[in-house]
Amino acid sequence: MSGSPRSILRGIGSYVPERKVDNQELSEKVDTSDEWIRTRTGIKERRFAAKNENTSDLALEASRRALDDAGVSPEKIDLVVVATITPDMAFPSTACLLQHKLGIPKVACFDLEAACSGFLYALDVADGMLSSGRYECALVVGAEKLSSIMDWEDRTTCVLFGDGAGAAVLTKEGEGAEMIGFQCGADGSNPSLLHQPAGGSMQPASQETVDSRGHFLKMNGREIFKSAVRVMERAAIELLEKHGFDKNEVDHVIPHQANARIVESLSQRLEIPLDRFYCNLHKFGNTSAASIPLALDEAYKSETFKKGDLGLLVAFGAGLTWSATLVRF
Ligand code: UT7
Repeated sequence: MSGSPRSILRGIGSYVPERKVDNQELSEKVDTSDEWIRTRTGIKERRFAAKNENTSDLALEASRRALDDAGVSPEKIDLVVVATITPDMAFPSTACLLQHKLGIPKVACFDLEAACSGFLYALDVADGMLSSGRYECALVVGAEKLSSIMDWEDRTTCVLFGDGAGAAVLTKEGEGAEMIGFQCGADGSNPSLLHQPAGGSMQPASQETVDSRGHFLKMNGREIFKSAVRVMERAAIELLEKHGFDKNEVDHVIPHQANARIVESLSQRLEIPLDRFYCNLHKFGNTSAASIPLALDEAYKSETFKKGDLGLLVAFGAGLTWSATLVRF
């Protein structure tokens, strides 16, 4: 198969901040209701990081757990990739900050930005770098502090997101789940569907960008919903076909955790029963790049996962970006 041999998922870990915020608490602050949020999204609560708890801190805890799970010490890591849209700061990268906090040697570290598809993009990139023979052991992280870019005056977005992190250790060989294949894509023709308009070179920070709330996340939810189902379905089908699998062979689907109705639509369109989809968005909301590893960590460690099962991970996000990954557990 193209690009083989593939890497091994040696260990996985995740972390969410302590503070739980349920829909009821949100409805005391914003013109919304538990009923609206639950029925439109499936979300019941989410976690918010403390003021002094940054994306790199969430990434640190998730990484420690993944390293522990893999039985790999930080000195063995020779590549760190962090997928995030909420880095601690514009630069240096959160990956560099994480490297220092973990005591990882002076190896290659960089951030990757593909929004909610970021973790799967990062797995693809790390897998390719390991396959090149120049790297041995990668730490791949999806981490977000989305509460830092949420607009509390926009009820159409602020009820959807949460903070968290997930991490995976990939090695060239050894015991673990086998990464089978990847499919990443993007369509940059309509960036304003989901974006944070200010703070970059196009609209540098100014009084005006602050006044216009340009530093917060903005989204056309309805359009994103429609695109999400379409692009995830296509990415999943193309990846399965590329690797000669029938959709009936998929034992578990770990979808991006954005909206229970998106997951249901995807299940119908792919004709894969809903009970094979893993969902934890009711507990954490949409955590963007952290969403897949947070769900994967929970699912992988649950009793429903057996050795040899085939897993399909599938995501979409701002860009638009999308990505699918096949894993043999
Ligand atoms: O990771 C990728 C990121 N994004 C997503 O995955 C989001 C994809 N989109 C969605 O999940 C859904 O489109 C939303 C959950 C964002 C919105 O659900 P919807 O069923 O598409 O609702 P809508 O935008 O069509 O709004 C329906 C109504 C509107 O009122 P009117 O115009 O019908 O009177 C909104 O003003 O719901 C109202 N509304 C709310 N009401 C109470 C919007 N947000 C809220 C709210 N509480 N928080």
